[in-house]
Amino acid sequence: MTDLRARITAALTRAHARTDALTDHPDTELIAQHSPLMSPLGWDLAHIGNQEDRWLVRAIGKLPGTTADSRSVPEIDGLYDAFAHPRASRPDLALLSPAQARDYVARVRARSWQVLAECDLGAADALTRNGFGFGMIAQHEQQHAETMLATHQLRAGAPLLSAPPAPSRGRPCAGEIAVPAGPFTMGAAELGITAEPWALDNERPAHTVDLAAFAIDADPVINAQYAEFIDDGGYRRPELWSARGWGHRAEAELTAPQFWRRDGDRWLRESFGRSAPIRGAEPVVHVCYFEAEAFASWAGKRLPTEAEWEKAARWDPAEGRSRRFPWGDEDPTPEHANLGQHHLGPAAVGAYPRGDSALGVRGLIGDVWEWTSSGFDPYPGFAAFPYREYSEVFFGGDFKVLRGGSFGTDEVACRGTFRNWDLPIRRQIFAGLRCARSI
Ligand code: AVJ
Ligand code: FE
Repeated sequence: MTDLRARITAALTRAHARTDALTDHPDTELIAQHSPLMSPLGWDLAHIGNQEDRWLVRAIGKLPGTTADSRSVPEIDGLYDAFAHPRASRPDLALLSPAQARDYVARVRARSWQVLAECDLGAADALTRNGFGFGMIAQHEQQHAETMLATHQLRAGAPLLSAPPAPSRGRPCAGEIAVPAGPFTMGAAELGITAEPWALDNERPAHTVDLAAFAIDADPVINAQYAEFIDDGGYRRPELWSARGWGHRAEAELTAPQFWRRDGDRWLRESFGRSAPIRGAEPVVHVCYFEAEAFASWAGKRLPTEAEWEKAARWDPAEGRSRRFPWGDEDPTPEHANLGQHHLGPAAVGAYPRGDSALGVRGLIGDVWEWTSSGFDPYPGFAAFPYREYSEVFFGGDFKVLRGGSFGTDEVACRGTFRNWDLPIRRQIFAGLRCARSI
């Protein structure tokens, strides 16, 4: 249990520090709505604290909720309920001021550390067992940290964030990898060396999926390839797009990835308030699903299904089993993948040889989320836990699954089984693509 307690402590400490780095800015920055697609940063901050209060302090600690600024617990719960208020309306609420939000979060954190210290992690209760609730809250905070990073990317004005550049020396693109037909285990295991005790409800249960043979690109699509697609009239040729995608392209007047700007005969990319020429060897980022689909079609390929992505990432033909991560069962380190906001952009493809999968597929974890062709649906035997609003209410909606995590994703919220989802028109998220085809 000491290992587990240390693991929880490390995950929560890292999440808290990340939130602080993203919100330790002047009040005006926390109150402003930098984009109608996003919440004010101050809303995310208090919402993160509110979820920690609900699940760690109240559900696990069985303590009364934390109050703030003489406001009642139900009032705070209401203000920071993501379902009650769409993002665009959040600035109009009588939110906590940035100082009040920081104070609220600090008091919640102090109480949840106390709960952790007193908690029996061996208890039979499913929320406590294996530290699931703590892992869930660390993941929740880190998912909002990635959302807040996207808010920073959308914000105008002088840069607020900085980080060392991602590795710019990789390996040349390695073509396609053939994945043989056959069954594999998809989804998070409960037991054994591949057990994922902090996997969220939508990753469960593990189940067998039998796939036909397919080929998948060894690398994600890079900026140089994407620029070729643009130069070849990619945004002017309806035959490359789905009917819906073409309609959206026209209406939204898409001509290039978000944040790209023509400068004579080259492309510049705006990144966290700084402008620089695109780097050809980096995965393209900030494309929507419809753009990803059109690129794949231009390349004579298609997007992988979610199951194909997971098999390419986890299947180890030598051992005849699925791994936790492409490289094996060990947690990620900075040598495996570009995760954790250590860099504010993707690295050159091939820069992380230790991250290669058993089949030789590269860069599956980190750098950019990868659009798959699959809708967000439950696995057979799905059971909502601990609340329906995490996953279940999104099943069957207009969402596409993304896999693999980005430079903005923390390792606690990224693994071979982790499922992200978003609307097919969204491109403020750190998403790119990888192509596949049937063989
Ligand atoms: C899994 C990223 C789609 O941000 O909507 C945050 C994560 N759920 N708070 C989202 C989430 C509740 C979720 N995504
Ligand atoms: Fe949330």
